[in-house]
Amino acid sequence: WEVSWDASAAVKGGYDTFMDKEIHEQPTAVADTLLGRVDERGELRLDEMRIDPSVLRSVDKIIVIACGTAAYAGHVAKYAIEHWCRVPVEVELAHEFRYRDPVVSEKTLTVAVSQSGETMDTIQAVRHAREQGSKVLAIVNTYGSTIAREADAVLYTHAGPEVAVASTKAFLAQITACYLLGLYLAQLRGTKWIDEVADYLDTLAQMPASIQRILDEQAPAVKALGEELSSHGSFLFLGRHVGFPVALEGALKLKELAYVHAEGFAAGELKHGPIALVEDGLPVFVIVPTPRRPMLHGKVISNIQEIRARGARTIVIAEEGDSAVEPFADHIIRVPATPTLMMPLLTVVPLQIFAAALATAKGLDVDQPRNLAKSVTVE
Ligand code: G6P
Repeated sequence: WEVSWDASAAVKGGYDTFMDKEIHEQPTAVADTLLGRVDERGELRLDEMRIDPSVLRSVDKIIVIACGTAAYAGHVAKYAIEHWCRVPVEVELAHEFRYRDPVVSEKTLTVAVSQSGETMDTIQAVRHAREQGSKVLAIVNTYGSTIAREADAVLYTHAGPEVAVASTKAFLAQITACYLLGLYLAQLRGTKWIDEVADYLDTLAQMPASIQRILDEQAPAVKALGEELSSHGSFLFLGRHVGFPVALEGALKLKELAYVHAEGFAAGELKHGPIALVEDGLPVFVIVPTPRRPMLHGKVISNIQEIRARGARTIVIAEEGDSAVEPFADHIIRVPATPTLMMPLLTVVPLQIFAAALATAKGLDVDQPRNLAKSVTVE
C-alpha cells in the first residue's frame, strides 16, 4: 500500500503546475496589493513608504530600473505616471543603466522594480543611482530582500510567494503598485483632482473581478488555441501605447515557457521592418486598445488589416463589444472594458494562459523552464 501524495502537489492547491496556480491567484495578488492603501475618504495612504512627501514633490524625473518581466511593468508605469503626474519617466534595463553615465540628480527618483529583490543587475543599478544622489524607491515582493533593505523607501507588492520561474502574478502586482505610486504622486503634487484619483482607485478596485472573468470565461478557448498552435515555431505580438509592453511580455512568456521564437513589437513599427516577417499562416497576436480612444484604436485596426492581407493568422485581444475587430480577426479574445491605462492588467492574462498551454502541449515543464533561474543573483 502506498500513499500517492507528494508535498509539492499539496502546495499547488489542486492545480497541475505552480504556473497555473499563480495565474489563477492574480485577482488576489492585485486585491492584496491595493489592500489597506486607500482610506475611508478615498485618498491614497502610502506613508508606509517612509519617504518625505516634500522629496516626492520636488522630483523632476523618474527612472525605472528592472530586468525581465519587471521591466515591462516599469514600461507600463511610464505611460501612467507621465499622464497623471506630468513628470518625465525613463525606463531602463538595470544592467544597461549601470554601465552608462545616466543623468541623475538629487531630484531624480529611481524606482527599482523586482519580484525577488535579489536580482544582481538591479541591486547594482540601485547602488549606482544612490551613489549619484538619487533617492531610490523599491517596488518589491520579498520582505527584507537586498533591494528592499538598500533602497530609501519601499512599496511592497503583495503577490505572495511566486514559485514558477516565469513571473505572472508578481507582474500584475508590480503594475498595480506602479499605478498606486503614480496616483499618489498625482495626489501629492496636485496634477489630478482628488476625485479623479478616487475614480481611478475605484477602477483599480474592480480589476480583480475583471481578471477573474477572463480566467472564467476566456481561459478554455485560449488554452485550446495554445494546444492547436503548439507546432508553430514563430509568433509575433503587436501593441500600441500600453499594449506595447504587453506585447513584449506576451512574447517573453512564450520564449521562456515554450522555447519558440516570439517577438513583440510596437504596432506602429510594423511597416519599418517587422511586416517583412509576415507570411502565410504566421500567428500574430494583436492587443487592441479600447474603441473609446478612436485614434489609437483605428490605427491598430489598420495594422490588423495590413498583416491579415499578407496571410497572418490574427489573434486579437479586444474589449467586449468592440465589433470593429471582427472582420479581421481569426480569433478574438475578449477582455472587460476598462480605461486605457489599466488595460495591461487584463490584456496580459490571456497571453500568460496561452504560453503556458502551448508549453504544456509540447510536454515542457512550465514551472522550471530550461536555462532560467527564478532570481538571477549573478551579473
Ligand atoms: C528572472 C526571472 C523573471 C524575472 C526576472 C527579474 O529572469 O526568470 O521571471 O522577471 O528575473 O526578476 P525580479 O526578481 O528582479 O523581478
